[in-house]
Amino acid sequence: MSAPNVSVGKPLPHDAAHLHVTGTARYVDDIPTPTGTLHLAFGLSDQACGTVTAMNFDAARTAAGVIAVLTAGDLPFANDVSPSNHDEPLLATGTVHYIGQPIFMVIATSHLAARKAARLAEITIAPETPILTIDQAMASNSRFEDGPRIYTKGTPDTALPKSKNRLTGSLGIGGQEHFYLEGQAALALPGENGDMLVHSSTQHPTEIQHKVAEAIGLPMHSVRVETRRMGGGFGGKESQGNALAVACAIAARHTGQPCKMRYDRDDDMMVTGKRHDFRVIYDAGFDDQGRITALDFTHYARCGWAMDLSLPVADRAMLHADNAYHLEHIRITSHRLKTNTQSATAFRGFGGPQGIVGIERVMDHIAAHLGRDPLQIRRANYYSDDNADQTTPYQQPVTDCIINALTERLTTSANYHERRKNINEWNAKNPVLKRGIALTPVKFGISFTLTHLNQAGALVHVYQDGSIHLNHGGTEMGQGLFQKVAQIAASEFGVPVSQIKITATDTAKVPNTSATAASSGTDLNGMAVLNACQTIRQRIADHLATLYTCPADQITFQNGHVKVGEQTFTFAQAAQKTYEARISLSATGFYKTPDIKWDRIKGVGQPFFYFAYGAAITEVVIDTLTGENRILRTDILHDAGQSLNPALDIGQIEGGYVQGAGWLTTEELVWDDTGALKTHAPATYKIPACSDRPDIFNVALWDQPNPAHTIYRSKAVGEPPFMLGISTWSALADAIQSCGPIYADLQTPATAEAVLNAITRTKGDG
Ligand code: MTE
Ligand code: MOS
Repeated sequence: MSAPNVSVGKPLPHDAAHLHVTGTARYVDDIPTPTGTLHLAFGLSDQACGTVTAMNFDAARTAAGVIAVLTAGDLPFANDVSPSNHDEPLLATGTVHYIGQPIFMVIATSHLAARKAARLAEITIAPETPILTIDQAMASNSRFEDGPRIYTKGTPDTALPKSKNRLTGSLGIGGQEHFYLEGQAALALPGENGDMLVHSSTQHPTEIQHKVAEAIGLPMHSVRVETRRMGGGFGGKESQGNALAVACAIAARHTGQPCKMRYDRDDDMMVTGKRHDFRVIYDAGFDDQGRITALDFTHYARCGWAMDLSLPVADRAMLHADNAYHLEHIRITSHRLKTNTQSATAFRGFGGPQGIVGIERVMDHIAAHLGRDPLQIRRANYYSDDNADQTTPYQQPVTDCIINALTERLTTSANYHERRKNINEWNAKNPVLKRGIALTPVKFGISFTLTHLNQAGALVHVYQDGSIHLNHGGTEMGQGLFQKVAQIAASEFGVPVSQIKITATDTAKVPNTSATAASSGTDLNGMAVLNACQTIRQRIADHLATLYTCPADQITFQNGHVKVGEQTFTFAQAAQKTYEARISLSATGFYKTPDIKWDRIKGVGQPFFYFAYGAAITEVVIDTLTGENRILRTDILHDAGQSLNPALDIGQIEGGYVQGAGWLTTEELVWDDTGALKTHAPATYKIPACSDRPDIFNVALWDQPNPAHTIYRSKAVGEPPFMLGISTWSALADAIQSCGPIYADLQTPATAEAVLNAITRTKGDG
């Protein structure tokens, strides 16, 4: 029995591409709602910290279209939407903790009526002094764990003072708004006997089910959550959809009517958590070749008011403090700080990018100090491609390294060395415009660091006509997961993908799923689906083997046909025959990632099944009079293992790179002294536009099989390319450094303003 890869590896378009571009893809807000559907809006705190002393809803309750106004006291059961720590009430309970915190909800006959009425409430808050910044949080010891978490390898305390050279520095790293095109949304439809069906724009349907069940006082079996797709999630829909889904379910229970909620864009930005902003302090020891001999990092993560996913995010930052570099003596100290701001949450890379920017900064700083090309310094510190004994700072062996070979191939294809020379010459001749170039590598660990999350389930049905119904626990947010998994199923049955029906994620079909996150969607769900398909295929083969006295292992599934010895049947005929013999054509599948174990307190173990690698070379030009800048050219070589779908993988790489570059350049979050987020709309928050992408954008896949036994030897590709965007920031730093002798100390985001200030510093006029 064999199944050649008919569709795995093909660059098929996204299964819903035609729906996306014609505006017919259905998102939560597009689902036709029954008559009588009600709409919700939250009333938000306008103070960052304080006690609610009075609430007057007279005007709100009598406003046109208003059905009810609910506060914490009206909630029938749990008042909690936290994914971790039970510290995040749906509606504030007497005290408020950030500007934008929901205090009450309005249920009305229209979206607009609910929003208008929410403005009519009079909430009086006795303000207290908020803790807003990293420094304020450190000064008041405002944190989520008793003290900092510390991971150590070797003896940095003795190795640092013995180092030939030493540099210290501090890097501020900005947060990031997810800016998914589809905002947060949920729709709850009450059924009989209290049952609830929830449509949610979520990466984590099981958690929505769990939180809704708690909030309406029913077991999880009474709640069904369905998610067909999201218009982008980027980590912002791992936990941030809980509030809307829970609010809708409570309102639906309260009124007996379907209830829907979507945030207006400004509310979305005010209410929901963002990427954690960080400060990374480093103390680096190195030799004259720039090889690091000891390194001491301190991470300060601004986590906001509630715990949410901040501990694993800050852990992942620590786990990526080495990036692609082999360090013998290293300590990473991580402070998880509690502040009166939005509760920072998952965002593509989940802390990894902040950890990686830290060490990339160290590479650039060492290079500037020694007067060398930063690429030399990076290469001098790389993990080796063939050293089985090298370990990460958390003592996981790095046995799959390819970063040296990958860098070699990329520098050649992008003509790095010659361009570097040309840029130096060009800069010497041009007083106003300056160019810069940088290569930055990525090594990203694949697996959830909370080990038990590394599991997935699937449900596959084959119908009598040979058509196939595919379901698994993963969610689709634009990344192409559903298409990749459909290609896997199609290959197993030897049928074209058109024979596979991709269906919405549904907690009633596959239970107890993990969030689609940590880039592991395909790794986990692809394997679970493979498992289910193999079960069904085996049943068909066994049956036909008996029927036609042919050894089962000589039956092939190929090109829509099943070959049984000399005879050939269509897949539909084979399904029909199996059905008539009263053999089940439906199966569940399951998968758990092997070989991982991790102690997050000690910081020792094997948290990752494997690493994904990549590198980018970016060339930029800056205007030294204004700080304005452009990306001129980007070359990327990225490792997606043996690609399941090169078109989708390249799409993930391009999108990840641009999103990463946006994070480090134009996307700036600004809070004022009262804790109000001032950048809460596209008018003030600048994400990359089409015109910001590099003029020359060469993206290639490394395309070697993953040595780890993953689905068709592919590698996860959702998050790792995000960190290729760091090369943009590093190239800007390089261009700035050509303006003067003093180390420019560029922080992130490198907005035009920040670039201009750095130019002033490097010239010593600042
Ligand atoms: N790509 C698109 N188009 N939209 C998204 O929301 N999210 C990213 C990444 N790529 C995202 C995306 C994040 S944060 C993760 S963890 C992965 O996709 C999740 O999907 P996967 O595990 O199937 O790769
Ligand atoms: Mo991605 S940040 O793991 O949802």
